[in-house]
Amino acid sequence: MLPEAAVHCIIADTDYQHSSSLNALIEDVGFNCLTCKTIDELQNTLNNINNLEFAFLSLDLILSDGFSLLKHPRLIDVDIAIIHTEDDPIAASTAIQRGATYFFCKPLNFEFVTDLLSDLMRELSSLEESQSDQHNTCSLDQFGLLRGSSKAMYKLYRTVRKVAVTDASVLLIGESGTGKELAAQTIHQQSERCNNPFVAMNCGAIPPELVESELFGHEKGSFSGADKKRTGYFEQAAGGTLFLDEIGEMPMDTQVKFLRVLESGNFRRVGGERNIHSDVRIIAATNRDPLEAINQGLLRKDLYFRIAQFPLYMPPLRDRGGDIIGLAQFFLNKLNEENGTQKYLSDDYKSLVREYSWPGNVRELKSVLERAYILASEVLDADHFPNEHMDFEENDDYLRVPVGSSLEDAERKLIFITLDATDGDKKKTADQLGVSLKTLYNKLNSYEE
Ligand SMILES: Nc1ncnc2c1ncn2[C@@H]1O[C@H](COP(=O)(O)OP(=O)(O)O)[C@@H](O)[C@H]1O
Ligand SMILES: [Mg+2]
Repeated sequence: MLPEAAVHCIIADTDYQHSSSLNALIEDVGFNCLTCKTIDELQNTLNNINNLEFAFLSLDLILSDGFSLLKHPRLIDVDIAIIHTEDDPIAASTAIQRGATYFFCKPLNFEFVTDLLSDLMRELSSLEESQSDQHNTCSLDQFGLLRGSSKAMYKLYRTVRKVAVTDASVLLIGESGTGKELAAQTIHQQSERCNNPFVAMNCGAIPPELVESELFGHEKGSFSGADKKRTGYFEQAAGGTLFLDEIGEMPMDTQVKFLRVLESGNFRRVGGERNIHSDVRIIAATNRDPLEAINQGLLRKDLYFRIAQFPLYMPPLRDRGGDIIGLAQFFLNKLNEENGTQKYLSDDYKSLVREYSWPGNVRELKSVLERAYILASEVLDADHFPNEHMDFEENDDYLRVPVGSSLEDAERKLIFITLDATDGDKKKTADQLGVSLKTLYNKLNSYEE
């Protein structure tokens, strides 16, 4: 029986001699190594393993099911080396597009592999140390625009680094406020497209009947209100990256057209005759489980497969250990710097921050910190931690707004709680709030950062 906390490595290869020498090397570095000889065995092992950090998979095995195993959820944030008997640039780039990190030829360069695994082992143990040291969690590592030093974030950094340089479409999956947009910008910055535009469009903040013209643009006079020609997001993002937030909110008929455009690279403006070509990388995001969205008829399966060449899971803040306090400190430092103050967090405040479940993730943490910063004269204390957040979880039919909130803040909260209560139905929400659908969309739009 392997110890619970052991860090695992997998080798999947039919070549016994190769597996056993690689196995010895891996165990020397300190990993527990599991070997598989068939694709079924590999599948089984993946279904039952925790703490997997590295996988050596032979190309032949992975090809036998058309690379689809690389999409196994256990492999998403694991470093994968594909091993082959000879150099094969096409297989190599396909494997890397599908999520592999490395493509190695036999005979393996054992020295390189030892260095690679030793680095990984060092990274993992330094992470453990910093996580066990509660006092030392205030300075956070940064990757692109993302901050965090937790294990979950390190894995995310590795995956982002890996996918950024490919041109694959990426689907960011994660709760609201986990940093999906920041991750999308980071991917763009680290890609070859970084000097071209990054254009973000929130499908959920645009009235359904306008999504298509926002996406593809329109010609003058193509519908009432179209008094000028307008280029859409697709054209604006030419050569760069188009970030489609809340992809599950894109109307179904637009999804069909959108998929066609992704496949051909060509589109027409609404009311236009001419085919326009635009080379755009797509990064989409959703805060729903995509498979559930497919089942509920909100997301087309074929579109999902097209955009989820690389699904990336954003960890919720509550799973990020020391990052919670680290980020709180980070946001406070920024406010102190901007305002020339030296306010600090009391121990009681820190405990509350640590214990709270943060359903709104980093976005919520940031706004809670900003509020406390305004209220506190020097020390951010327990009194400055909003109680109503605690009450929220127990009773989400009521909204408690602390005295001292701005009207805008109260309004935003009321809008979100009503949206929650109507399961995101914007028409119903607008009706209940007594505003027009257009007003609701305008307000939601203004909340986008
Ligand atoms: N890892 C992170 N490091 C620093 N700031 C973050 C991080 N994740 C999220 N944020 C901040 O939290 C807020 C919400 O992030 P965003 O990317 O818009 O989340 P999402 O798109 O998942 O709702 C933004 O202000 C963003 O700057
Ligand atoms: Mg967002």
